[in-house]
Amino acid sequence: MCSIIGYKGNEHASTLLIEGLKKMEYRGYDSVGIATIKSGKLLIRKGVGKVAEVNKSLRLDELPGKLGIGHTRWATHGGIVDSNAHPHLACNSTIAVVHNGIIENYHELKDELYRSGHKFNSETDSEVIAHLLEEYFEITGDIRLSMIFTCKRLVGSFAFVAVFNSSTLCGARYDEPLIVGVGHDDYFLSSDILGFLNHTDRAIFLDNRDIVVINDSDISFFNFDGDRISRKITQVAWELGDADKGKYSHYTLKEIHEQHQTIVKSMDQDKKNLEKFCKIITDAKNVFITGSGTSYHSALIAKQIFSKSKIHVEPIMSSEFQYSADLLDENSVLLAISQSGETADVMHSVKSAKEMGAKVLSIVNIPTSSLARLSDSYLEVNCGPEIGVAATKSFTSQIALLYHVADLIGKKSNGIFASKDVLTKAIKQVLELDSHIESVANQIKGSKDIYILGRSLHFPICLEGALKIKELSYIHAEGMAAGELKHGPLALIDNNSIVIVIHPNDSTYGDTLSNIHTIKSRGAKIVGISNKKDEVYDYQITIPTINESLYPLIEIVPLQLLAYYLSICNNANPDYPRNLAKSVTVK
Ligand code: F6R
Repeated sequence: MCSIIGYKGNEHASTLLIEGLKKMEYRGYDSVGIATIKSGKLLIRKGVGKVAEVNKSLRLDELPGKLGIGHTRWATHGGIVDSNAHPHLACNSTIAVVHNGIIENYHELKDELYRSGHKFNSETDSEVIAHLLEEYFEITGDIRLSMIFTCKRLVGSFAFVAVFNSSTLCGARYDEPLIVGVGHDDYFLSSDILGFLNHTDRAIFLDNRDIVVINDSDISFFNFDGDRISRKITQVAWELGDADKGKYSHYTLKEIHEQHQTIVKSMDQDKKNLEKFCKIITDAKNVFITGSGTSYHSALIAKQIFSKSKIHVEPIMSSEFQYSADLLDENSVLLAISQSGETADVMHSVKSAKEMGAKVLSIVNIPTSSLARLSDSYLEVNCGPEIGVAATKSFTSQIALLYHVADLIGKKSNGIFASKDVLTKAIKQVLELDSHIESVANQIKGSKDIYILGRSLHFPICLEGALKIKELSYIHAEGMAAGELKHGPLALIDNNSIVIVIHPNDSTYGDTLSNIHTIKSRGAKIVGISNKKDEVYDYQITIPTINESLYPLIEIVPLQLLAYYLSICNNANPDYPRNLAKSVTVK
């Protein structure tokens, strides 16, 4: 999704802005732009395309000046055209603004600003911020006051950064992240610490309703009511910035291949923190669990693994949560799962739960995220930066940690902790099938529709496998509970169908085998993911035998690899699927 970077210091700003935007490219975007201030003059260049392409054609990094802002835009309001790219300028070209989020009342503000004589150059909601700042600066002659008055007028979610030609850099946040990077004698403002982590590991995480103003003499913080506030510097881990592809051709492939190590790291938790987390669950009367996309699939698995430990948890998709929030009260707990910890749907669920008096727990990969900061207690999955837009290693880490928590508080254990070594070995064995899975992908690459079937614990893995195939390869894929086939979807099966079946030799084996025969007799080709050889499969991906309840952790791996190789077969870029963003900060 959109990324923000701002810089004020002694270095050539545009070079640092471009570098920061490149570090945040994984978040997804369609256009790019920067603005700098040189000798009191505001200079701006922007266009549609990737940072490297636009930089090559417009030489963004040649803009002079030691103060500037940059942005990559993921279109929401207004088409993907140069004029809608950020930064946006106020009428007199003395103020430029970059914005993440959505200004819900922008129609009303735009009408009002039109009537006061402002002219607009884009279709975006964001441009109103530049004109509001200009309007209030004309009235007050004071940058701090114009920031406060502007923020008070905005409805929606926002993090924005503005430069004034008087050499001032400002930022404000409400429901979108914004972080100050504190260097030796310079400052960064960014939506993601990766934007400045190459230069400083000292960060100030702004809270909701915070404003920061950086001028030549100092840095100061205010809230939207105009009160001066103080904010602490946090030392962030340098390793977060340590993300390169190594020997792999894509981040996605590298991250898939890290999973035998990352699942173990997710169980390496501080004992006290883990106990606190577990106690909040055991003290609760009702436990709800939420997430979006892949993280919601983790929630579906959690329902089953907690139920094996005799604990009832109720999964609710975050985008649907608001319609069920009435179920929660002060005796409830909401456990939110999110890799980024910034997903708007998840954040809204958490806020509704808090309003109902419920406690909030979270499982995140980014400990400095808004979700972690809002939670009564949180656990980190510790899987390192996940750059590929599609969630892979964060998923297996989330579920490994959920197994661990369920085992610690449940009456019956799934045995994950004791099986760490077995699991590491089993995942490694599946990863060694990489080239076999590539050849299966080559056999099925022409298919228009792929169905993935399984029962019980395997069903959420079918949903997750289908999501990976859709987003990486752009082939339509559907995950289904195998027993539901006869209730309708069987009508779709013919000799053009590809059906992947998750079929280990466990308690689901016999029933799923009957379903396979039904499909096979209608001409479909079967890809079996199983630990038992069977002639019924047209292609088999053989997984190792492990403890029955832990199969989800290994059977997702061949599906991730299959999705990856299908995307390569279809000439898609698996790291940056079209239309998608890593951190979905809009509702
Ligand atoms: C799919 C994918 C998305 C995310 C979803 C939630 O591969 O990556 O479905 O899982 O947008 O993101 P987080 O976990 O950051 O809240």
